Amino acid sequence: MDTVISASLLGCDLSRIAEDIKDVQDAGVDWIHYDVMDGVFVRNISFGEPLLKSIKKLISVPIDTHLMIVDPIRYIDNYADLGSDLITFHLEAAKDPMAVIDKIHSRGLKAGISIRPQTPVEAVKPYLGSVELILVMTVNPGFGGQVFLPETLEKVSEIRYLIDGTGRDIFLQVDGGINVRTAEICRSAGANVLVSGSYVFGSENKREAVASLR
Ligand code: DX5
Ligand code: ZN
Repeated sequence: MDTVISASLLGCDLSRIAEDIKDVQDAGVDWIHYDVMDGVFVRNISFGEPLLKSIKKLISVPIDTHLMIVDPIRYIDNYADLGSDLITFHLEAAKDPMAVIDKIHSRGLKAGISIRPQTPVEAVKPYLGSVELILVMTVNPGFGGQVFLPETLEKVSEIRYLIDGTGRDIFLQVDGGINVRTAEICRSAGANVLVSGSYVFGSENKREAVASLR
């Protein structure tokens, strides 16, 4: 399977978000990654529905929404209405993850589950038959521009093994500190969706940056 590159808008310059979206789409990114933080599940507050409402008309690739919020089920309809193609939530933040997955599916979208660096692989096992994407956080969620945590790689390999065992087509995504060097080791460990914020948006030549991640 080809590697999917998902550009995280957390890494863009919000004062020129329209140009930045155009630039990364012209550079060939496959998805746009939209990080929603609530200041509770993670310390930071990023952006929410109003921004996505304004920019969705500029986005011509699938919208990959990453909810870093408590009680995610409350917001699935909102982010579905705003045009998300895929919604990922954190297992640590949901009281009943299966209900959230069902809710995402009821809107006709792909469902993703995510785990923080400290959460063991076992947590994803009950959902392997149900989700379309598993996100292994390679930094502690909350901020862009952090350094990749190498200890998360083992979980990527273990989840790749579990996914292959299901025979299902499940994306394995990594997010946090992805650059040309860490992309390569994540791909070798079995990841096939790479989220990149500061690396792609901070590169002078975005087309080269995207190509280098593949
Ligand atoms: C971090 C977010 C990431 C972030 C990645 O909590 O989930 O999507 O934007 O940014 P970089 O690529 O700069 O680590
Ligand atoms: Zn993210």
